[in-house]
Amino acid sequence: MVLAELSGKRLIFVVGGPGSGKQTQSEKIGQKYGLTHVSTSVLLRQEVQSGSDRGKKLQEIMAKGELVPVDTVLGLLKESLVKQAGASKGFLVDGYPREVDQGTRFEAEVGPVEKVLYFEASDATLKSRLQHRAATNPRFDDNPDAFDRRIATFHAKTGPVVAHYEKLGKVVKISAEGSADQVFAEVQKHL
Ligand code: AP5
Repeated sequence: MVLAELSGKRLIFVVGGPGSGKQTQSEKIGQKYGLTHVSTSVLLRQEVQSGSDRGKKLQEIMAKGELVPVDTVLGLLKESLVKQAGASKGFLVDGYPREVDQGTRFEAEVGPVEKVLYFEASDATLKSRLQHRAATNPRFDDNPDAFDRRIATFHAKTGPVVAHYEKLGKVVKISAEGSADQVFAEVQKHL
């Protein structure tokens, strides 16, 4: 373990396209297995809400559906993990890594990852969930013009992440097409 504070803690990455249900499932997993849910997008949105200069720059990037630079995301992530380490037996790192480099840097600077939960859904499912959320309970980055870009960014950048960890035998692929409870039933077979 590179960060001493995280020694002996489980580290699990949670990846999937926008709207695949990473956050929904991470909350359920966290409750059932006593793992701490840390979402990179929640950390980034908190920075945006703080109104800082850095937050303003992040807001522009996120509203366009593009990826925030790795140094920013990894910096916020490390800070959050270290702060919560004393009270946690392990972490679900939701929304990270989005690029192979993010994963490599995390393992070099934080510690080894046990597995990668990959929630797989078709582009049509992803888009319809984003559209539904935008119509009912929108976030500032639920910008319909950027949905296709978010999905394309996911395939281009995060597709290679899945391939990378598959080669290492660490990927657990879970169909995210069913209801949230059906998906969670599938998750529990692997944890
Ligand atoms: P992020 O918030 O992670 O956006 P995302 O990947 O686009 O994913 P979402 O949060 O929209 O969806 P989700 O998979 O968590 O699904 P959820 O459970 O919410 O990131 C936002 C932005 O931040 C990025 O675009 C990027 O700019 C930046 N960013 C974040 N991390 C980064 C990183 N590591 N590096 C660089 N930049 C980063 O569910 C979605 C909706 O579907 C909800 O309404 C939910 O109720 C519903 N739903 C969930 N499951 C089901 C189901 N099984 N059936 C029906 N509906 C469901």
